[in-house]
Amino acid sequence: MKVSTSILSAKDLNKCLKELNNTDTDYIHLDIMDGKFVTNKTWHLDDLNLDDITKPIDVHLMVYDVINYVNEFSFINPEYITFHVEAIDNVKETISYIKSLGIKVGISIKPNTKVSEIYEYLPLIDLVLVMSVEPGLGGQEFIESSKEKIDELKDFKINNNLNYLISVDGGINDETVNLAKNADMVVAGSFILKGDIEKNIEVLKSI
Ligand code: DX5
Ligand code: ZN
Repeated sequence: MKVSTSILSAKDLNKCLKELNNTDTDYIHLDIMDGKFVTNKTWHLDDLNLDDITKPIDVHLMVYDVINYVNEFSFINPEYITFHVEAIDNVKETISYIKSLGIKVGISIKPNTKVSEIYEYLPLIDLVLVMSVEPGLGGQEFIESSKEKIDELKDFKINNNLNYLISVDGGINDETVNLAKNADMVVAGSFILKGDIEKNIEVLKSI
């Protein structure tokens, strides 16, 4: 299992980024919120010591104005930029735009959005981010019905010979990760950052 570490609940953002360099996390997951698509707001680029990040970056936009944020975050050369299908109408154009910047594209679905609502985009994208909690807040409980969505996405991928990564975000810990076995990657924040960061990442990676 690949692991992307969310730094949303880090007490000291830049200290946390430095620590993560010495772990086996595959990605750093940056949760970006606009205070509108979700009620909370997170940091801007100025808040991050970018020189301290040596891991590949996976950006999760929880915003309405996707293109503006893509333009802002494209400067940090993320490997993936993921946006919410519920946030915009021009999904296909947005996928093409992110690709044109040489960045891999992810689409995220909230707990109440069905996988069938994104079937038409699956051949076009590099990653699907299944939200296993309502976006906007760390430390929530994993919604168990997310397992069926992960399984459906895996079947769809095999049956249609597609290549997207299946990533799962929210409430992941050493127990709930077992419900996400059919995913390729899990995003975890509170579980990893509480206690021994290196060990917690290893536990998730071993699944
Ligand atoms: C929630 C964020 C998640 C969150 C994960 O809106 O997208 O990335 O930080 O945190 P935990 O692991 O605490 O659920
Ligand atoms: Zn996230």
